[in-house]
Amino acid sequence: MTALVGFLGAAYPWVKAAHLIFVIFWIAGLFMLPRFYIYHQPVAPGSVEDRQWIERESRLRRIIITPAMALVWIFGLMLATDQGLWDQHWFQAKLACVLALSGYHGWAVGYGKKLASGFRPPSDRALRMMNEIPGIATAVVVILVIVRPF
Ligand code: HEM
Repeated sequence: MTALVGFLGAAYPWVKAAHLIFVIFWIAGLFMLPRFYIYHQPVAPGSVEDRQWIERESRLRRIIITPAMALVWIFGLMLATDQGLWDQHWFQAKLACVLALSGYHGWAVGYGKKLASGFRPPSDRALRMMNEIPGIATAVVVILVIVRPF
């Protein structure tokens, strides 16, 4: 990996800009998706409105959040390789948070598929609590990369 340090050359700030553009798309989508689920949940399975929510949710996942997550990872790993950050603790902590956020993404995709197949939980409490995760993870990640507290 050390042989690759600096491999991006003058392209580094462009890759960083691309990283941040797709971070914004990804996180915006992760904020929207559980909101859609909160509106979808009371709708009767099989109704016209149910089919409309299924379509909206699936488009948000397919067109925005899944491609954005893949691009955030690709550009982020390129930046880390260029800078040789693997042994820095703030970066390792960031990676752990981003892995958790990717796990949340997987959970949100799975939840949407369950709703589409007619699953209706007794309340939306769990969904509202889960909805807090992307905001908290974003705040922690931004502090880690900007402040580098350790
Ligand atoms: C998916 C895995 C990710 C990897 C491997 C990664 C890696 C990186 C690297 C190596 C940098 C450059 C640091 C520097 O030049 O000092 C960077 C910049 C940045 N990343 Fe990520 N990142 C990832 C995801 C995220 C996420 C999810 C967020 C926000 C929630 C985020 C927010 C930022 C910010 C704000 C910067 C700019 C910091 C600066 O001013 O240099 N990253 N990222």
